[in-house]
Amino acid sequence: MKINFTETVLRDGNQSLIATRMPIKDFLPILDTMDKAGYYSIECWGGATFDSCLRYLNEDPWERLRTIRKHCPNTKLQMLLRGQNILGYKHYPDDVVRAFVRKSVENGIDIIRIFDALNDLRNIEVAVDEALKAGAHVQGALCYTTSPIHNIPMFVQLSRDLEKMGVHSICIKDMAGIMTPDVSYKLTKAIKEAVSIPVVIHTHSTTGCGAMTLLKAVEAGADVMDTAISCFSGGTSQPPTESLHYTLKEMGYESGLDEQKLKKINDHFKPIKAAAIKAGLLNPIVMNTETDALIYQVPGGMLSNLVAQLTAQKSLDKLPEVLLEVPRVRKDLGYPPLVTPSSQMVGVQATTNVLLGERYKNVSKEIKAYLHGEYGRAPGEVNEELRKKVLGDEPVVECRYADLLKPGLEAAKAEIGDLAKCEEDVLSYVAFPQIAEKFLQNRAEKEKNTVKYTIEKA
Ligand code: CO
Repeated sequence: MKINFTETVLRDGNQSLIATRMPIKDFLPILDTMDKAGYYSIECWGGATFDSCLRYLNEDPWERLRTIRKHCPNTKLQMLLRGQNILGYKHYPDDVVRAFVRKSVENGIDIIRIFDALNDLRNIEVAVDEALKAGAHVQGALCYTTSPIHNIPMFVQLSRDLEKMGVHSICIKDMAGIMTPDVSYKLTKAIKEAVSIPVVIHTHSTTGCGAMTLLKAVEAGADVMDTAISCFSGGTSQPPTESLHYTLKEMGYESGLDEQKLKKINDHFKPIKAAAIKAGLLNPIVMNTETDALIYQVPGGMLSNLVAQLTAQKSLDKLPEVLLEVPRVRKDLGYPPLVTPSSQMVGVQATTNVLLGERYKNVSKEIKAYLHGEYGRAPGEVNEELRKKVLGDEPVVECRYADLLKPGLEAAKAEIGDLAKCEEDVLSYVAFPQIAEKFLQNRAEKEKNTVKYTIEKA
C-alpha cells in the first residue's frame, strides 16, 4: 500500500511555529535534498507566506516561488489559496482571482489547495475553474469543524459537490486541530466511499491527537497526509514526518521517503529552530499540547486570544462566562467554522457581550458584513432577530458576493504605475496594497542606487 507525504515545513510548519518568518536563505541550501527525499509534494507558498515575504522579509514572494521551483524540479510544489479571498480576508473581483491563480501556476505551482472559510463553494468556483484551465492539480478543501449542524453526511455532501466541480483531490482540512482520531477514521472512510478521487488529510498537533488523527485517516484509506519534518512539527504545527513514516512502514505502507534524506533535512532545520527560539520568534507556548481545545471545542489559537483579550481588560475571571457565550454567538451566526476571520469575530463578540452585560449592544463591523452576506452563505440558519437588529431593513446579499465587485486588475495597474515591472508586481499590490507599494518602492530605490554605483565605477 502506498501512502503519500506532503511536507509542510516551508509553509504551515513555518507559519504555525514562527509566524512565517523563515527567510529563503535559511532553507535554500536544503531544497535540493528536499527535492530528492521522495515527498509527494512540498507545501511552500500561499497562506501567510506571501504577506510575510513582503511585510517582514523584504522578499519578492514570486521570486521565492521561482527559486524553489528551480531547486525542486522533481517534486510537486503546493500552495494554499483562500478561494475568492486569494490570501486575505476580503473578496476580490474575479479578474484578480483568475490572474492570481494563472500566475501562481506560471511561476511554478503544481497543486493548489483551495478552500472557503464558510465552505460556501460559490466562493471557490472561480479559483477552481481557473486552476483547472491553467492545468494545475486542483485540490478542493473542506473546512472541518464541530457543531450541531456539522456532521459526516454534511461533509460527504460537500465532497461530492467538490468532485462535481472537477477537482482532482479532496482535502479534509482540520485547520483548528480539533479532529479526533475516531472522527478522522469515520469521516475519511465515508468520503472515500462517496468519491472516486484521492483524499488528503490535514491536521495540527495542538491537542495532542494529530498523529493519531493522521494514522486513523490512513487506516480508513486516506491517500496523502500533511506532516512537518520533526524539528518543525508538534504543537500548533503538523505531526512529524519521520514518526509517521516509520510507523506506517512497520504497518506495511510504502511512503517512498528516503530516510537518510529525512535525517539530513531535519539536521538542517534544527539550528534554524534553535535560532528562532533564541530570537524569541518561536514562543514555547506554541509547542504545548493544549487539551482545553477538546473540552471547549474551540481552536487552541482562539482560546489563547480570548485569554489575552480578557487579561488586557483585567477580566480574566469572566473566561468561563465567555466560553459559554462563544457557542451561543456561533449559533446566532449559523455555525461558521472557527477559522480566521470568523474565530476572531465570534471571540470578540462573545467577549463584548459578556463584558457589557448585554448581548449585541455593540456589534463589530465584521459581524455586520457577515450578517449582510459579504462573506458568503452561513452554514446554518442565522438568527433573524439579530440580523434585523443589526441591519434594519437593509436587504441581505443573496448572490455570490464577488458578483457585485467591479474588475480590479486594470485599476490597480494604473494606481501602482511604473513601480510594477510585471503582472506579478501588480498582483502583489492588489493583495497587500500598502506593504507591496513600500516593498516595490524600496526595490526601485535599490535598483537606482545600483545603477548609479555601476555608472560611477565605470
Ligand atoms: Co493548517
